[in-house]
Amino acid sequence: MVFITKTQPLDVPSAIAQRRSIKTFKTDPITPELLKQLVELTVAAPSSYNLQDWQIILVQDEAQKAALSAASFNQQQIVQAPVTFVFAADPNVGQGDLTPIFEQAAETGAWNEGTVNYFKTAIPQFQATLGDKRREYAIKDAIIAATHLVLAAESLGLSTCFMNGWIEDQVKQVIGAGDNPDLAIAILIPVGYAAEPRLNPGRLPFSSNVSVGRIGNPYPG
Ligand SMILES: Cc1cc2nc3c(=O)[nH]c(=O)nc-3n(C[C@H](O)[C@H](O)[C@H](O)COP(=O)(O)O)c2cc1C
Repeated sequence: MVFITKTQPLDVPSAIAQRRSIKTFKTDPITPELLKQLVELTVAAPSSYNLQDWQIILVQDEAQKAALSAASFNQQQIVQAPVTFVFAADPNVGQGDLTPIFEQAAETGAWNEGTVNYFKTAIPQFQATLGDKRREYAIKDAIIAATHLVLAAESLGLSTCFMNGWIEDQVKQVIGAGDNPDLAIAILIPVGYAAEPRLNPGRLPFSSNVSVGRIGNPYPG
């Protein structure tokens, strides 16, 4: 993995504290090297059984960006930003051919033969017990990868906006997945250079949604 940065990347706590959902982007491009670095850091995210059951589509073409914006209630961030990452989730990966995942983990030494043999049975079994929840589980993995992207981008001087405002079938048409009924769209993330700063809208006090031991037993902080 090659990491190329012009400036010192922000550390993780700073990136978390500084990040805002940006609503207006400059059209300035992202260099191919920086984009590649973002993709590498995105797919470095963990996933259940290391299934990597996301499909990440980089939308950069102007006409495609316009179509994606139209599928997203005309939200303009997608048109302005040089790239929007579409995070899709594939609920069927765990029941497909997992050989490449097993081979890679065996090669790195992370999973020994016993682990691989165990997973060969355990993964399809677990996926079968999930039933309809396979979609939800795949979306969890995709959202974790999307969060990696957002913090990596912030660390490297870029801005983002998590976007849930879109019509799934229309987004699927734009990315060429209209004929895949099982694929779920998890989130859209435009990435680029902020055209204007945004203020932090604030967070509720811990007492409203952080508990100790049992829900409703407030964490005093
Ligand atoms: C799952 C999710 C979906 C969101 N969808 C949109 C969206 O479609 N459009 C938008 O402008 N902002 C969207 N936002 C941004 C939120 O409005 C923003 O995160 C929130 O107001 C807090 O601001 P901050 O991100 O600057 O801390 C979304 C955020 C999240 C986490």
